[in-house]
Amino acid sequence: MNPDLIEYGPDFYDQTFEDEGRWRNPYWQLSWYGSWAVIGDRVMNSASPRVLDMGCGAGHLACLLLERGVEHYTGFDFSSNRLEQARLLVPGFRFELADAYKTDLFDTVDYNIVTCTEFLEHLDGDLEILQRIKSGTRVLGTVPNYDATAHLRYFHNAGEVEARYAHLFAQVGVSQIRNTSGSIEWLIDGVLL
Ligand SMILES: C[S@@+](CC[C@H](N)C(=O)[O-])C[C@H]1O[C@@H](n2cnc3c(N)ncnc32)[C@H](O)[C@@H]1O
Repeated sequence: MNPDLIEYGPDFYDQTFEDEGRWRNPYWQLSWYGSWAVIGDRVMNSASPRVLDMGCGAGHLACLLLERGVEHYTGFDFSSNRLEQARLLVPGFRFELADAYKTDLFDTVDYNIVTCTEFLEHLDGDLEILQRIKSGTRVLGTVPNYDATAHLRYFHNAGEVEARYAHLFAQVGVSQIRNTSGSIEWLIDGVLL
């Protein structure tokens, strides 16, 4: 965890994308494949899914969703380098360069599911951002049980995740998905109040 709990800006994410070649690997070669696959299944099992993907990064989840048959997808991220890769991977999907705190996409895009994988723990205002999403929207997101440079928080168990987020949801479940590094992603699946 960064010692001063600094929320990083787009330059940090542009640079780490360039520094770490793994972000150019296909989704099935990355540690988070398991959680992306579960989210893909849940999206495809919901009626007429229209996905808004916050902090979509380099387009790995987008690519998996396309392959699963998702037709309506908008992703946004404030890292132009990551978005460039996403657009190359999935040219048929819409990707927007946008900051979650400022974007109007929550009001202008037609969506019924918001995905956010490994995103909320990077934001000081994670609760504020969730409250920007339309009421009644299903959220499928992951948060980690492990430390990393840009993480402002992480969660030891499902109860800690519920303690932070459950009050924003009409109904929510938190389940555990182990990634290929052995760490845990807590999968949040709920409908926002
Ligand atoms: C750990 S990455 C996760 C990316 C992707 N969701 C995934 O699962 O691979 C976190 C992403 O959040 C983006 N991000 C962080 N803060 C943001 C903000 N305020 N607005 C938009 N994107 C942001 C970063 O640029 C980065 O791509």
